[in-house]
Formats: sequence, C-alpha cells, structure tokens
Amino acid sequence: MNATRRILVTSALPYANGPIHIGHLVEYIQTDIWVRFQKQRGHECYYVCADDAHGTPIMLRAEQEGLTPEQLIGQIWQEHQADFADFLIEFDNYYSTHSPENRHYAELIYSRLDATGHISRRVITQAYDPEKQMFLPDRFIKGECPRCGAADQYGDSCESCGATYAPTDLKNPRSVISGATPITKESLHFFFKLADFEEMLGSWIASGSIQPQMANKLNEWFTAGLQEWDISRDAPYWGFEIPDAPGKYFYVWLDAPIGYMASFQNYCDRTGLRFNDFWSPDSTAEVYHFIGKDIAYFHILFWPAELTGAGFRKPTAVHCHGFLTVDGQKMSKSRGTFIKARTYLQHLRPEYLRYYFATKLNDGIDDLDLNFDDFLQRVNSDLVGKVVNIASRCASFITRRFDGQLASSLAEPVLYAEFVVASDSIAQAYEQREFGRAMREIMALADRANQYIDEKKPWALAKQPGSVTEVQAVCSMGLNLFRLLALYLKPVLPGVAAQVEQFLQIAPLSWNDLARPLLGHTIAEFKPLMQRVEMAQIMAIVEGSRENQPTAETAVAPAGSLIDDPISSIITIDDFTKIDLRVARIVKAEAVAGADKLVRLELDLGGETRQVFAGIKSAYTPEDLQGRLTVMVANLAPRKMRFGVSEGMVLAAGGKSGIYLLNPDSGAEPGMRVK
Ligand code: MSP
Ligand code: ZN
Repeated sequence: MNATRRILVTSALPYANGPIHIGHLVEYIQTDIWVRFQKQRGHECYYVCADDAHGTPIMLRAEQEGLTPEQLIGQIWQEHQADFADFLIEFDNYYSTHSPENRHYAELIYSRLDATGHISRRVITQAYDPEKQMFLPDRFIKGECPRCGAADQYGDSCESCGATYAPTDLKNPRSVISGATPITKESLHFFFKLADFEEMLGSWIASGSIQPQMANKLNEWFTAGLQEWDISRDAPYWGFEIPDAPGKYFYVWLDAPIGYMASFQNYCDRTGLRFNDFWSPDSTAEVYHFIGKDIAYFHILFWPAELTGAGFRKPTAVHCHGFLTVDGQKMSKSRGTFIKARTYLQHLRPEYLRYYFATKLNDGIDDLDLNFDDFLQRVNSDLVGKVVNIASRCASFITRRFDGQLASSLAEPVLYAEFVVASDSIAQAYEQREFGRAMREIMALADRANQYIDEKKPWALAKQPGSVTEVQAVCSMGLNLFRLLALYLKPVLPGVAAQVEQFLQIAPLSWNDLARPLLGHTIAEFKPLMQRVEMAQIMAIVEGSRENQPTAETAVAPAGSLIDDPISSIITIDDFTKIDLRVARIVKAEAVAGADKLVRLELDLGGETRQVFAGIKSAYTPEDLQGRLTVMVANLAPRKMRFGVSEGMVLAAGGKSGIYLLNPDSGAEPGMRVK
C-alpha cells in the first residue's frame, strides 16, 4: 500500500429548509463509501459537512411557520443529523453555515478579495415588492409568459413554452409573497470579478481536477464569457451582513462553500488538527468536494477563483455525480416516488439502498435510476442469495460439530490467494469511484465461493462417518472466503461488516488483514445477517410517500352500515372491471395484538400469498376463519398500517346485525376471478 495520505472530503451542504430525500442520498452515500474506503485503507481522512442555513427561502419558511430562522434551522439540523446517522453516513463533523467560524471565513475571504481589487460595486435595477418591502428573487415573481401567454409562470422561464426572459418581461407580474404588483427599484450591489481568474481557471480545467464532461461544460461557460457575479443582497435577508456595508448581506452562495472550511475549522478546534495543513496554498493534503451536477457552476468556477483570490489552496478535485430518477422519471410527490430518507427507514434497513446505489455509481455524471423491481432483485440475489448465503451454509457445521473452532490450515490456499489478489483491482475501483465495477468484481468472487461449497457439499460429507475433518476444512475455507467478501464490502455495508466481525469474533476488518486467514480460531454462533426485501415493504414506502395519502383507518373497515345507506353513485362497467376480485383461501388467521377490531389474514390466491388486515374480529374468531374461502380485492394498492402492510381487502357485508364474510359456493378455487 502507498504512504499514508491526508485527505479532506466534503459533500454539498443540504439546504436547511426541507428533509433529506433519496435523491440527496446518492451523494452522501457515494461520499461516505469513498471516505470509509480511505479510512479502511489506513489513510488519514476527514469527512465534513453542514447545513446550508441562509437565504430567502429559509427566511420565508420560518416566517410562515411562526418560527425564528434560528429555530427553524436548529430543528432541521437535528433532523438531518438523525437521517444521515441512520443511513450510516458518518461525518467527522456536521455543522452549520450559520456559525461564527463561517462568518469569520466569509468576512476574511471577502475582505481579501476586496483588498486585491476583485470586488466591484454598481447600482442595479431589480423587482421590488412594495408591500413586503423587499427585493424579489426571480423565483418569487410570477405572471404570464411574454411569449406564449401561459399563466402562472416564474420570473426566469416558462414551463409551458420553455422561453427564458427577465422578470421585468412578465405580463401582469405579481409577488408570490404578497400578491402585490412588483415595482422596479435601484440598489447598490457588490460583484466578484470572476474574469480576473480566467487564466487560472483555464489551467485548472486542463490539470485533470474535474471530470472530462465537466471540463466540456466549463469550456462552454468560458466561451460565453465570464460575467461578474452578484454576491450581495439587500435587507431584509437571512445571512451575514457585509462588513462596512449596513443593510447589505452576503448572498447565500457566497458563504455556502465557505461552510466547508468553517465545518473543518470547528473540527480542528475540537481535535487539535491544524487547519492550515489542509488549506494553505502550499498544503500537500488532498481536498475533494463531492457535488451534484446542478451546482457545478459554483464549485468549478466561483469557488476555485475565490480561494485563489483569497490566498487559499484550490480543491484537488471536484467530483460530480448525476441525478437520481425513480422508475425512469423525476421523483414525484403524487406518484409517491419523492421518498424521504425517514420514510424509507421506517420500512427497510439503509444498507439495501447503499448497496443498490453502489452498484449504479461510477465516476461519470449520467443520471442513475432507482427501479424497484431491479432494486429488490439485486439486493435479494446478491446480498442475501450470494454473500450471506455462504456464511449460513458453513457456520452451523462449525458451531455444532466443532465447538465453533475453525480448521488450523487452509484447505485451498490457491483459491484463497485468488481472493487476495482481487483486492488490488477492487481497491482501484473504489479509489476511482467506480463502485459499480467494485460490486461486480466482489459478486464474481461470491459466485466463486458458492461454487466451491457446491462442489464440496459439506452437508453430504457430514453424513459420511470418515469425513469429519473434511467438513471442518471445507466450512472453514468457506468462512475465510466470506470474511474477505465482508472486508471488501465494508465501505458499502458497514453495519453488516460489524455483525460479521461479531460473528467471527475478530477486530474491525481492515485492508491489512487480507494475507492472514483465520485459522484455529473460535467463532460465535451464526445469527441471520440480512433479510430479503419484500415487495410489500417497497410498496409501503411508495404508499407512505404519496401526497394526500388516505388514513390507515379507511383501509381497515370492510363494511360499515351499508344496509342503511343509499346506493352510491352510478359507475360504468369500465370502472367496475378495474377492480380485480379474486377467490382466496384463508390459510392463516390470527388476532392482532393491540387492535380490538383487526384480524390478520394470510390469503392464498392460487400460488401467491397475501397478508390482509380485516376489521372482522367482532364477528369471527381466527379459528373460524382458517381454511375458509372468501373473496378479496386483489389489486388494491397496499396500505401501510401500524401492524404491517395490508395487501388487499376481503369482502364482507355489514350492518346493524353484524358482519358477514362473503363465501363463494364450494368448488370455487383460490385465484379464480370474480366477475
Ligand atoms: N445548498 C446547496 C449546496 C451548497 S454546497 C456549498 C444545495 N443543496 S440541496 O439540498 O439542494 O442539494 C444538496 C446536494 O444534493 C447537491 O449536491 C445536489 O446536487 C444533490 N441532490 C439533490 N437532489 C438530487 C437528486 N435527485 N439526485 C442526485 N443528487 C441530488 O444544492
Ligand atoms: Zn411560454
């Protein structure tokens, strides 16, 4: 391994006005995997981040909620921290841009840029809300598109015809905040003279610090000409006031990237690390920023220019990634694919998503898609079917027959060596952010290990009296291969790796452990490491993410007092045939603890089993129900309830005299369509 490197890594700072969602997680998971890999390799690596806590949207949202901005960003900071921690994203420091350190560095960088002539001042004209008495960002003005006349368009572009324009071009403009008609007003603004850094940026592009696709993008911006960047905003604004300029504030994007430094400074103050070792112009440490491609402009143009102008080093590299789509489309609240980190965590463990993203990530900027079928299939077949399977196939023999003791020599040193040799290429893939390739190589090894066990058949050997030592040898070999797989997967699956360390009774797996197999060593009893993902869990996440969700209660009651109700409104035959009614057999019925009305049913639909919670406990004991045929709605969207997911509904008549489950005549078979 090469000499110890000193590495500082950041992810973009999420805005403190909304929850973390699975789109964000692409970035934080990507960065976390890379950082964990560096640490596991023995490098000195720090991962810092923070909430991006300033700007107009945060100011207005706090106002709406009747909070001070400080209260709002305090609450969101707590939520973000918890979401990241529960996704096993391990920052060395998670801070806020609304901090004294950040004020210090924002003022320092600004004053150095000003002192060296890189700041200009001039009066500009802008839209102003006369009622709210504030200047309006483009996004806070709406009106009719000047080109096509579409109503309700933002001040910068038309979503209907795609035209781009200035907010002053809108017809019948109004302020989104107060509804007032904006007027125009003059104000003095401060600008960063980006063009002063044209030469430096030109050579930076050529130096390989950014991906080729981003270098192309940057060259386009170059050709279009480097404009001065407006870095000031007028009061009322939520941010830092500019020194010696009362009523003028730093624009949020000025102090946001500086938040990387502020978070690191805060970490240095806590730990005694030296800030300048990482940020001075002659630093030999490496600094990497992981970001989404939407914010590249800020990171590959403004940021290196600001740093250079203010006498700091530039980042070693900026790593851009693409955007997440779900089932091929932009995340959408109405489709239930705008999935919050917290909603996901209520149903599935984080490592499934970490692994899935890892299989899809590379060093490019193409968008990546979360496809639910693919997700289920990848996780179940790779992690559960291949990796975990190796341990569960070998462990019980070692525990039951050999008192947990592994063999004292390796049965197949050549095979073991093959696994060790693969480490170079896997490490290289991690280093280059080619996580998809790393996962493919690791799964090919898992296939190889399973093939070995298939060939040796320890379960058959165990039945032959003369083969006792061979059973131990084969299972010990299998577990040694498994240990290497766990080591290689550890950056992606830190929780599973910890379970494996506990099971194998070993110190935290490190890249240095490769060469030494576990021999004559006692392991603990094997506990299942990972469950399969079920489609019902995924459906429950989608259901829980859909906006305007019905409450759980509506899914419970099979019947109220319909008998007294007037007949509902007329529907067409097409409406009716949308409902897929099926004969189902109740194979299992049980009371639900903590719910007086509910019975949990397992329904056989002729090969497929469904779980349904039905509110029929007042009329039936579970034993009465077991074995009976009934009719169910088979294509009802699954509903997440407090006790589990209900995957359909059984039909019952209900009225004052009780509840009566519908039964088909005898002879009907589970799965038959009811028409
Ligand atoms: N606050 C700014 C970043 C300031 S960095 C000095 C910001 N915040 S954000 O919350 O909108 O986004 C944070 C990061 O998440 C960005 O890098 C962004 O690209 C990324 N993503 C947000 N939605 C995403 C997807 N749907 N897919 C992939 N990444 C996404 O921008
Ligand atoms: Zn238009």
